[in-house]
Amino acid sequence: MASTKTKLLNSCVLIIAILLILQFNMSRAQKVPAMYVFGDSLVDVGNNNYLETFFRANFRFNGIDFPGGKPTGRFNNGKNAADFIAENVGLPTPPPYLSDSNKNNVFLQGNGTIYLSKQVGYFYEVQQRLIKKMGESAAKEHLTNSLFAIVIGSNDLFNYFSSKSKIHLTKSPQEYIDLMISTLSNQLMQIQGLGGCKYLIVGIGPLGCTPSQRLRNSSENCYDEANNLATIYNKALQSMLLKLKSNLKEHFNYSYFNIYDFLIDLIQNPTAYGFLEVKSACCGIGRLYAEGPCIPISTYCPNRSDHIFWDEVHPTEATTKILVNTLFNNTKQYVTSMNLVNLLAL
Ligand SMILES: *[C@@H]1O[C@H](CO)[C@@H](O)[C@H](O)[C@H]1NC(C)=O
Ligand SMILES: *[C@@H]1O[C@H](CO)[C@@H](O)[C@H](O)[C@H]1NC(C)=O
Ligand SMILES: *[C@@H]1O[C@H](CO)[C@@H](O)[C@H](O)[C@H]1NC(C)=O
Ligand SMILES: *[C@@H]1O[C@H](CO)[C@@H](O)[C@H](O)[C@H]1NC(C)=O
Ligand SMILES: *[C@@H]1O[C@H](CO)[C@@H](O)[C@H](O)[C@H]1NC(C)=O
Repeated sequence: MASTKTKLLNSCVLIIAILLILQFNMSRAQKVPAMYVFGDSLVDVGNNNYLETFFRANFRFNGIDFPGGKPTGRFNNGKNAADFIAENVGLPTPPPYLSDSNKNNVFLQGNGTIYLSKQVGYFYEVQQRLIKKMGESAAKEHLTNSLFAIVIGSNDLFNYFSSKSKIHLTKSPQEYIDLMISTLSNQLMQIQGLGGCKYLIVGIGPLGCTPSQRLRNSSENCYDEANNLATIYNKALQSMLLKLKSNLKEHFNYSYFNIYDFLIDLIQNPTAYGFLEVKSACCGIGRLYAEGPCIPISTYCPNRSDHIFWDEVHPTEATTKILVNTLFNNTKQYVTSMNLVNLLAL
């Protein structure tokens, strides 16, 4: 079984791997001056190239459909969610945060395992730098109007199932999820304490339907346990958010993206969205192209636009584009509490 290969990063429990900052074009994004992304490899634009991690994407066939056709560190055949979000608000693609071209902004350094508490510390440094640069009241206004996007959690759930990890021996799924949620809740409160008011929170997708987890189901259907865990997590996440909202009132506004239900719909009705292949990865090795990662000796599918998954765990550019469009188009069914356009306009 290929289960041990599913880790998205060289991750530890409850890490936030990537902190990414997009400066918005004020006129296009109205009041929102910047977006701070706390995320994992789904939104990484190449930071992993600069981290000491074994899990990288700076080689073929990643990036095969990216402008220039070169690998960039994105775990994808083309653009990823950060690129499409930037596009939707009228921005150029952000450079990888840890690259030389962005050295003035570098604050996330060291190895691939960046613990949650440390990450909040990095954000504190950013906040201090903003105060120094803009003055206290302008920095406060900047952060009040900025969007904080949180795209995390999948690594932690994959880790729970990883055969290398022993965590499932000591913690029940519910205990593990409770720990994830309380850690995230603390983290959100700390970011809020540093001035963040607007949040885009993305739930966890149906991990059991990724090619790597399908290998755990003898009929190559979705692996129930992983999907159940994601469902329990999303439920706990939503009630935690309601609690935060009722505690923090007008100082905390959010859009929650129910990515789980949306991807299930996509997987069950692929042709409605222009997809033909829902099970198999496009690029990889072995059964469902998911027994090994997408590396230069792997095989890849001729048409990346008709596959939902690019590799053993990551969606294709085509899927990602539809996900981000759904988020911005405010499909009520999938975006709750408040739609993203209203959130941005607050
Ligand atoms: C990663 O960096 C942190 C902090 O700099 C350090 O405490 C930890 O030991 C490092 N881990 C490895 C595997 O190098
Ligand atoms: C495999 O998929 C079938 C059909 O969805 C489901 O009934 C079954 O429980 C799954 N098995 C596992 C191990 O998840
Ligand atoms: C949050 O939303 C409420 C309305 O629901 C609004 O009154 C408040 O000003 C908002 N807070 C921020 C910081 O945008
Ligand atoms: C690739 O797939 C997309 C989506 O299904 C389809 O629209 C397109 O025509 C396909 N391209 C080729 C060359 O088959
Ligand atoms: C969704 O939004 C994108 C851009 O934000 C747009 O190009 C697309 O046509 C919209 N789709 C629908 C169905 O409204």
